[in-house]
Amino acid sequence: MRNSSFYRIFGLVCLLLLFTAYARAEWRSIGNVTAVVEQKVNYAVLQTSSGALLRAEFYDFDTFRLRIAPRGEFETLPEFALDSSRDRKTPAVKISTVTDKVHVKRGNMLVWRLDKILELASAFGTKVAIAYNGTKVTIRDASGETVLETESLMFNDQTGQIKATGKRRSQIETYYGFGEKALPFSRDGQTITNWNTDAYGYKSGSDPLYQSIPFYIALDQGKAYGVYFNNTYRTTFDMGKSSPGRFSFASEGGEIDFFVFTGGKERSPKKVLADYSELTGRMPLPPLWSLGNQQSRFSYFPDSKVRGIAEEFRRRKIPADVIYIDIDYMDGFRIFTWDKSKFPDPKKLNEDLAKLGFRTILILNPAVKVDEGFPVYREAKEKGYFVRDASGNEFHGGVWAGKSAFLDFANPEVRDWFGTLYKKNLDEGVSGFWNDMNEPSNFPDWQLKEPIGAYHPAKTLPIDAKHTVRTSAKRSSDQSKVYADPKTGKKYTPLKLVNEEIDHARFHNLYGMQMARSTFEGLKKLAPDKRPFVLSRAGFSGIQRFAAVWTGDNTATWEHLQLSVPMLLNLSVSGVPFVGADIGGYSGNPSPELFGRWMQAGALMPLFRPHSEKESIDKEPWKFGEEIEKISREAVELRYIFLPYLYSVFREHEQTGQPVMRPLWLEYSKDYKSYLIEDQFLVGRDLMAAPVMREGQRQRSVYFPAGDDWRNWSTGEIHKGGTSAQIDAPLGVLPLFARVGSVIPTQPVVQHTGEMSNVQLTLTVITGISPDRAEKAEIWQDSGDGFGYKLNDWRQIKVEHKPGLIRLTRFGSYNGQKIGFIEALGVSKRPSEMRIDGKIVENIEIDEKRQRLRISLGENASEITMKR
Ligand code: GLC
Repeated sequence: MRNSSFYRIFGLVCLLLLFTAYARAEWRSIGNVTAVVEQKVNYAVLQTSSGALLRAEFYDFDTFRLRIAPRGEFETLPEFALDSSRDRKTPAVKISTVTDKVHVKRGNMLVWRLDKILELASAFGTKVAIAYNGTKVTIRDASGETVLETESLMFNDQTGQIKATGKRRSQIETYYGFGEKALPFSRDGQTITNWNTDAYGYKSGSDPLYQSIPFYIALDQGKAYGVYFNNTYRTTFDMGKSSPGRFSFASEGGEIDFFVFTGGKERSPKKVLADYSELTGRMPLPPLWSLGNQQSRFSYFPDSKVRGIAEEFRRRKIPADVIYIDIDYMDGFRIFTWDKSKFPDPKKLNEDLAKLGFRTILILNPAVKVDEGFPVYREAKEKGYFVRDASGNEFHGGVWAGKSAFLDFANPEVRDWFGTLYKKNLDEGVSGFWNDMNEPSNFPDWQLKEPIGAYHPAKTLPIDAKHTVRTSAKRSSDQSKVYADPKTGKKYTPLKLVNEEIDHARFHNLYGMQMARSTFEGLKKLAPDKRPFVLSRAGFSGIQRFAAVWTGDNTATWEHLQLSVPMLLNLSVSGVPFVGADIGGYSGNPSPELFGRWMQAGALMPLFRPHSEKESIDKEPWKFGEEIEKISREAVELRYIFLPYLYSVFREHEQTGQPVMRPLWLEYSKDYKSYLIEDQFLVGRDLMAAPVMREGQRQRSVYFPAGDDWRNWSTGEIHKGGTSAQIDAPLGVLPLFARVGSVIPTQPVVQHTGEMSNVQLTLTVITGISPDRAEKAEIWQDSGDGFGYKLNDWRQIKVEHKPGLIRLTRFGSYNGQKIGFIEALGVSKRPSEMRIDGKIVENIEIDEKRQRLRISLGENASEITMKR
């Protein structure tokens, strides 16, 4: 008996060993470089001993791309993440082979051998060296410092998996980005999974969530670089968790294909982000109204309820621009229908709301009820627009409407068609659209008896489900026609586009983004003079081109309020500027204090949307008592006061790729103390919010990043950069600071953005600038909607600020909100003299307590001087 169990265990151990050896054997290195097979102005293609092809390319001046086809053939599928509308520069690169002395370890001895190296040297001094032996890739910046060094590049013949490993620059290197993660602020020592998931009830530490952005920014003692892993399968990153000296990223399929953003000469994170957003795109300026307060709930119905809520906001003078209409408006959850018993006349509803200065945003899901009597289903079925299962039949799952089929947003024909369906709602006067459940979420309760959790594989489509993409034909025999360029007469064969089938495993992470794209592009075609507003739950790198995003179904707890700041900051530095979390928490019921603090914390976040679950209590601000109603009103008022500034920051994003909400380290990458601060954030460059996010707290510590000084927005008190201070924060106060030297545009409180042209701008000058400094500010104005701002319908006010001097210069011809006032923060005594364009100013208001001076200003004033 004893013997037999010994043999059984022995046998099992042997089997296990054999199996591990076998499994390991499947992972192979891509081997050594054997030949250069192609060389062009900015790239070289190398053959390796494993049969893989490697393409090393300077994609842009400070962006290097390494692409490895394990089986020797590069994919030709559409690159959904990349923004093809942006101009690409092709930098000339010096490509040469050199022989170098390489140090290697033999046993315990350090020896060296000669190795052949292919070197790509950019005009800016960045050098990429690819050692033939073992195909090691090293990228160095202009000063010769290592940006990134690979250790191994591997693939697995059997499973199709791939993996790249590199060396961390140091053990204190921090990593940010990776999109939407409920993980610690810096990702060092973490593992990360990218697989879009409906993560209802997620907590701190839950991974993955709704969106996947395989991009990070690494920061080590002031020097940054970035990596974007251009692979849409389920990917994983290990940032020093299994081995503290290494990072690695791996995928279930596709190519090892990654972009390295070297950070250029400055090696700054802002440069990395600028280059990443050049690659994956930037968000076009959203409509101004979408920066207002967007009130939501699952669900406001019937229409009288929607009207009642809107009227209540106006009656209580809590500013708002939007009211959301969640799924209960539909007839049996059939998309693009109305339940006429609840919403008999949507057009009239929208017209009446518009009179109150309200707009509606409507929810739409990608799943279509399987119902032969439902025209959307019938038409999509006839046209073959649904995702198919592995045997080619229409795949059926279940979402709100029960048995449902899923539109195939991989297919451009489907995207175009779906985009046209919004016409009806636009004609009814709906202003924006919310794409939800687009991971895609699937809860086939009609199939599965047991309740399924967030990470059940059946919560989405099977990975072998089929999508159709349009791709350029691979074989030259497919290129049937030859055309001549009408201008040059040069002959060319256009790439023929063919349909190709891909698995859900490859498309899954792109599904939501392509739904948002379909919505965005459809709206742009249907209403070319309006800026589309789309809110999406799922996303991938590049989602910012089409939609704002929010962090899904959070919970009404202090933990979730705290989590919202690092989550939104990391999303922001992942290229996505228009981000928000459900204010007040989606599930569960917040205490009045938590609700009030959440309204404050959200006041200056890019997307301001209070939202709540069906089963939760009413969460309109007036439902929490008078004190909290007042605090909520003041928080929303603060947002409306800062709208001219927020709008200018959104414009800055469109031009530079910098986010609206910024971690301190993005602007202060040389200040190491700022690296782990996750409970304060910058709005643009000039405002810093330090919300209270702990129960009972009435004072908090605030860090002021080194390099600038800061003034308390409400008291004018100055704080030196590089110091910390305890700041009073009674229940009604959001600790807010402005950068000394900056000039911030604000306006008086309005009830909605439609009222903005009736009020005048105030330029708030933050005084205390040192005599050797000059600061510049740019204020952007336009009509707030449409695309006239791309032509000449805009105005930019450039402000120069030196001690005691403000100079204003105006550019552009937009004639909207006028300049009315100048305020100076940090002035508590009447100055000895003030002049506007040489003329003495008599009328100077001083608010001693708030250290504020105020004068009015003609619209055309250009020079303001002040002597203390
Ligand atoms: C999902 C969304 C939530 C929405 C609900 C009903 O859970 O995340 O925001 O209210 O569906 O549509």
